[in-house]
Amino acid sequence: MDLDAIEKVYRRYAPTYDLYFGALFQPGRRAVIERMNCRPGERILEVGVGTGLSLPLYPRHARVTGIDLSRAMLARAHERKARLQLEHVVALRCMDAEHMQFPDDSFDKVVAMYVASVVPHPTRLVDEMRRVCAPGGELYIVNHFHHASPVIAALERLMAPFSKLMGFRPDLSLEQFIRDTGLDVIEKVPVNLLGYWTLLRARNNKPRRAPKTQKATATADERG
Ligand SMILES: C[S@@+](CC[C@H](N)C(=O)[O-])C[C@H]1O[C@@H](n2cnc3c(N)ncnc32)[C@H](O)[C@@H]1O
Repeated sequence: MDLDAIEKVYRRYAPTYDLYFGALFQPGRRAVIERMNCRPGERILEVGVGTGLSLPLYPRHARVTGIDLSRAMLARAHERKARLQLEHVVALRCMDAEHMQFPDDSFDKVVAMYVASVVPHPTRLVDEMRRVCAPGGELYIVNHFHHASPVIAALERLMAPFSKLMGFRPDLSLEQFIRDTGLDVIEKVPVNLLGYWTLLRARNNKPRRAPKTQKATATADERG
């Protein structure tokens, strides 16, 4: 799906999204936020925050930023933040998750719930999540991946041509996703109804950069 198609389909979903995907996906949202174990003051980024169904689940001591491509979905998230007085939600911004406007290392933990099979380029999504997450931080993905059962997998393949209409790809392979993104997965947990969705917890395995000040000091010391 391209960005225009995503905007269009989620503009259509926005008014009824919570009705169809609220309760159904809530165990996965709850499971991932519990695993994130957000500590006081931690900077959390939720990519593809949608209507903000997850926002009340974060502990009040975290500092949560949400982004989404769809203004219609994001408007619902703004409403929810105001209605429930979610002070821990520090920003909700309209942004493409594959080209984020945040500087490197802006967050301690970055999460994407039910987004990896919606974006046009899942590897770009993960590259960006990695870039804006501090070294040593953690990345979390909750998503449906291509099913292991041959019957369900065949059905998913049949549904694939209707991705634009449905707003997601049903046939994303977990093995290929992990291979292509190079995610350093430390936990893999089935979630939601019949464990049909998967929660991935990964170390942010980008290299740490040497702090500039240390280098400058070392050079000054060397000079004597
Ligand atoms: C299936 S919904 C999931 C929403 C929410 N995470 C939830 O738990 O209900 C997918 C969301 O990803 C957003 N999305 C898709 N592509 C995106 C992109 N490139 N950048 C930012 N958000 C995107 C959609 O607008 C939509 O709100």
